[in-house]
Amino acid sequence: MLALFLAVSAPAWAQQATVSKNGMTPGTAAAATPAAAAAPTGAQGAGGGDAAAIAAGDALFKNNCAQCHAVNDKVVGPALAGISKRRPISWIIPWVHNSSKVIASGDEYAVKLFNDNGKQQMPAFPQLSDKEITSIVAWVTSQEGGANQTAGGATAANAGAADGQTGAAAGAAAGGYTDMLLIVLVVVLIVLVVTLAIIANLMKDVLQGRKDLDGRDIEVLNQRFDWAGLYRSPVLRGIVGTVFALVLLYEGVQSVMAVGLTQGYQPTQPIAFSHKIHAGENQINCAYCHTSVYKAKSANIPSANICMNCHSQIKTESPEIKKIYRAIERKQPIQWVRVHNLPDLAYFNHSQHTQVGGIQCQTCHGPIQNMEVVYQYSALTMGWCINCHRETPLNTKGNAYYDNLVKLHDKSNNAVPFTVSSNGGTECSKCHY
Ligand code: HEC
Ligand code: HEC
Ligand code: HEC
Ligand code: HEC
Ligand code: HEC
Ligand code: HEC
Repeated sequence: MLALFLAVSAPAWAQQATVSKNGMTPGTAAAATPAAAAAPTGAQGAGGGDAAAIAAGDALFKNNCAQCHAVNDKVVGPALAGISKRRPISWIIPWVHNSSKVIASGDEYAVKLFNDNGKQQMPAFPQLSDKEITSIVAWVTSQEGGANQTAGGATAANAGAADGQTGAAAGAAAGGYTDMLLIVLVVVLIVLVVTLAIIANLMKDVLQGRKDLDGRDIEVLNQRFDWAGLYRSPVLRGIVGTVFALVLLYEGVQSVMAVGLTQGYQPTQPIAFSHKIHAGENQINCAYCHTSVYKAKSANIPSANICMNCHSQIKTESPEIKKIYRAIERKQPIQWVRVHNLPDLAYFNHSQHTQVGGIQCQTCHGPIQNMEVVYQYSALTMGWCINCHRETPLNTKGNAYYDNLVKLHDKSNNAVPFTVSSNGGTECSKCHY
């Protein structure tokens, strides 16, 4: 029975393992596309973009769009699969540059889309060039599952990525089915074991009543399972000991790796201030409160007088708002509890990333506009900083400072985009000095 159980469940586990390997988490999407980028020249996605453009599109998508969009699933915005067929690029570019302008122009498709998505405003991306948006679309197209792509002469690497996609989608459905199958099997096995035990007991009772049994039969009948012997068995002790040691080792390594990490940290704040109400529902710009975030190293926390711009009128009777008045009367700052905190040995500058790099707050801080209480979304480890520097193309357009560097880089290494790391963004002294 055990063999039967294993035989049936092994393919199910194997399938689940491949699903989690191919599942389109952002991390694995990253793993899939460098493969596509490294493929020999002529690696053409169905969108017609070349490998370098697709790789650039991948990074751009992750930095600007991934918090709201996925290729095959609805996140905040709709799934982008098939977008190049749904809409011409001449529509997509102005949409990404400023979607509210397209909606305001009365474009029928845009208005319907906006209404169908609960009138959620997609942020404007004026900093993205036409070419960058085209490369995002090329990347999206390269990630779409389906036969058309393989037929279109995709390379093995590209086809692999596409298979992963469809595999993940199919696997998710199959996963639910195999889970059910496993549960049913386990129940059936338990019922079987119980029935067999009952039958064995019944047969013993019947035999015990009989007088014509010889010595060996009686011995068999009275046989008990030797639990003490099993307990003393060195083989069993060895197996249990090894498993126990491995679990302990695994847990130990996990907890040591987590020392000093505070991902998910969500302290209770002195006032029940909600980013969901302010930055989400009321669409107050982040920089209205965090005024220095585009200009300085640190993003400041707003002082009480910024709150008073509105709360001198709004909700003046709320006990939470009265806490703001009390702080002002006492001339004491509100004692917000700090959430993010890099160690002093590392240098991080907001303006470098938000203003110069053009990275959205949400890329690092997660969906702040949906948080009632802020928590630390990213791990803030060194590996996190470095990985992004390796993957993100540097915005060099219209900046003469970079012209020669980009030319030299392209000459020596033209398949790889000019990333932050190509410009020395992974050198120790950029962050430690
Ligand atoms: C903060 C969330 C958010 C971000 C970030 C975001 N979008 Fe959107 N996007 C939406 C929403 C919501 C819609 C649906 C339309 C609406 O409600 O305005 C949408 C719609 C779209 C559409 C039309 C989809 C269709 O089915 O016709 C495209 C194309 C698109 N986004 C591309 C992008 C690209 C490219 C980026 C990154 C540069 C991006 N979006 C970043 C939220 C977002
Ligand atoms: C109405 C003012 C206001 C707006 C708008 C606002 N914030 Fe905040 N933010 C605050 C206040 C007050 C705090 C401190 C209390 C807290 O952590 O909730 C804070 C805290 C934070 C923190 C955590 C800081 C820490 O302690 O590490 C982050 C990150 C943050 N905001 C990001 C954003 C982003 C991103 C946006 C835009 C989507 C935004 N904020 C919009 C007022 C605002
Ligand atoms: C640009 C205007 C604006 C600013 C600035 C602003 N708020 Fe608000 N706040 C609002 C609005 C609008 C509401 C929602 C009121 C409602 O639910 O009717 C709100 C609601 C609140 C609430 C919930 C009150 C309740 O009892 O439901 C709290 C707490 C709050 N704000 C704290 C703050 C703090 C602290 C600051 C300063 C860091 C701040 N607000 C800055 C506009 C603002
Ligand atoms: C590249 C990643 C990244 C981006 C983009 C980013 N932040 Fe941060 N943010 C961080 C890190 C890292 C810290 C912790 C800094 C420290 O402890 O010195 C932080 C800290 C903060 C803090 C706490 C105060 C401080 O400066 O330590 C606030 C508030 C904040 N960020 C708001 C924002 C807002 C608003 C935006 C968008 C305009 C934004 N951040 C964009 C990575 C980022
Ligand atoms: C989401 C991607 C992203 C993350 C995460 C990120 N960075 Fe950056 N970083 C960039 C980009 C893009 C630039 C280049 C900005 C430019 O000059 O155009 C940059 C530039 C820098 C620079 C300047 C490099 C130079 O060549 O002058 C430093 C220093 C830096 N980052 C530190 C950090 C630290 C420390 C962290 C982690 C706490 C971090 N970054 C996390 C994207 C990121
Ligand atoms: C992009 C920015 C960046 C670069 C480049 C970088 N680091 Fe780091 N490093 C960090 C950050 C951020 C931390 C803190 C991470 C944490 O608290 O977990 C850190 C932590 C460390 C620590 C751990 C210190 C401690 O006490 O925990 C060491 C050691 C270190 N870095 C060495 C290096 C070396 C060596 C290099 C060059 C090969 C380097 N770093 C390059 C950002 C960077």
